[in-house]
Amino acid sequence: MVVLEMVATSPANEENIPKFSLSWENLTYTVKGGLFGKKGEKALVNDVSGLLTPGSTLAVMGPSGCGKTTLLNLLADRISSGNIKGNIYVNGKPRKSVSHFVHIFPKLS
Ligand SMILES: Nc1ncnc2c1ncn2[C@@H]1O[C@H](COP(=O)(O)OP(=O)(O)OP(=O)(O)O)[C@@H](O)[C@H]1O
Ligand SMILES: [Mg+2]
Repeated sequence: MVVLEMVATSPANEENIPKFSLSWENLTYTVKGGLFGKKGEKALVNDVSGLLTPGSTLAVMGPSGCGKTTLLNLLADRISSGNIKGNIYVNGKPRKSVSHFVHIFPKLS
């Protein structure tokens, strides 16, 4: 199980923490090469959508190898190869237009 924790707020310093939502729609990630060396495309993440609101925690659950870590890497902009389709938004805006996004997830694993 993987847990995405959006913003770790506490009443004392809540005002100092930037609030943002993260959402993704129809996220599909494919790499070249099928199973057992077959040619073609293999979808590691297949048409996944989700929403994470400020202060919320989201558990990503599934069997080993189903793509949880790959999904988190996509959301953290850690994937530079393969074919990514779909949209990722920060506060409703396409993520690419939001600078320094990667710093939002310093401890993602
Ligand atoms: N770069 C890659 N190229 C090809 N296949 C990959 C690549 N990265 C991961 N995979 C495969 O994609 C699938 C999903 O892997 P991922 O690590 O995201 O699963 P997971 O849900 O995090 O598993 P676990 O619970 O064991 O951590 C696995 O079958 C894995 O072997
Ligand atoms: Mg994993």
